[in-house]
Amino acid sequence: MILVTGGAGFIGSHTCVELSDAGFDFVIVDNFTNSSKEMIDRLGSITGKRIKSVTADVRDKDAVSDIFSKFDIDAVIHFAGYKAVGESVSAPLSYYRNNIDCTLTLCEVMSEHNVKKLIFSSSATVYRSDNKMPVDENAALGCTNPYGWSKFMIEQMLRDLYASDNKWSIALLRYFNPIGAHSSGMIGELPSGTPNNLMPYITQVVSGKLEKLHVFGDDYPTIDGTGVRDYIHVVDLAKGHISALRYINDKSGVEAVNLGTGRGYSVLEIIHAFEKATGEKIPYVIDKRRDGDTAACFAKVGKAKELLGWEANLEINKMCEDAYRWESSNSN
Ligand code: UD1
Repeated sequence: MILVTGGAGFIGSHTCVELSDAGFDFVIVDNFTNSSKEMIDRLGSITGKRIKSVTADVRDKDAVSDIFSKFDIDAVIHFAGYKAVGESVSAPLSYYRNNIDCTLTLCEVMSEHNVKKLIFSSSATVYRSDNKMPVDENAALGCTNPYGWSKFMIEQMLRDLYASDNKWSIALLRYFNPIGAHSSGMIGELPSGTPNNLMPYITQVVSGKLEKLHVFGDDYPTIDGTGVRDYIHVVDLAKGHISALRYINDKSGVEAVNLGTGRGYSVLEIIHAFEKATGEKIPYVIDKRRDGDTAACFAKVGKAKELLGWEANLEINKMCEDAYRWESSNSN
């Protein structure tokens, strides 16, 4: 049985579908502060299975311990955490408290129950922005906001944990920019308030919730001056977790692995790809650069292929179609 913390969230819910497809039994723990309970029912519809879920905060040690007593957990995929960059700058203590406490509590309980296989949701945001692109797993680390530093610190904690007890088997998955949604249109990203990320902003412009897209800077040293990122379909990303789970199963160690496509797209390229995929027009204006943004960030993907036998397959067209379908069928 796999424990999925934050399994009702964007990446967590898609990973649960892939776990089910791959024949894994799993239980979700989520406090639903940044996700909806309805996702559990929807996961049931997509998978055709009864979804096991516990409503609890991962910081609640007794509640997490109970889950380990009740279910025969073999491994944990740990998604639970706060993830809004801007919010982390205005509320750093709450970000450090929540993200680090969740992981500490989880690892303590895992240790007590002798469960030592863990997949952690890290982020490409741990890489310093002045690295040469594409960035590999050995590139220099450093962050620009508390959200990023919380990921960085947790990676270090998990490395220290392995150093103290080399029975642990840990994958630190560094996500690039996940977008898209499940092709059923039943699960997807649920941004709270006005989205900060590009794709949910675009889909809300198209659905009429927002007036126009602000393109943050057109004077970067990139193909057309706008920021370049490595967008990856969330279903591909979810499948990466299944490969990582198989990888950590029969060995010990701690490995950081990039999950990206290896290809960068500029903001303007994304706008055009979205328009082409959906037939919609995206009104936009060029605005000034956003603080903390970098010109380009995309992954070197060789390690994921070599170690996990995984690579991303879904094209930008599909990412846009699926993001659009999700917004169109759920905009209310
Ligand atoms: C952002 C976070 C990153 C986090 C990731 C999670 C920042 C600085 N970085 O990454 O730490 O891990 O989200 O998904 O917030 N853009 C626009 N207009 C918009 C929104 C975005 O032009 O309204 C541009 C950005 O300048 C960037 C690209 O689109 O070039 C992608 O932005 P976004 O989706 O926010 O992702 P990141 O900034 O890469």
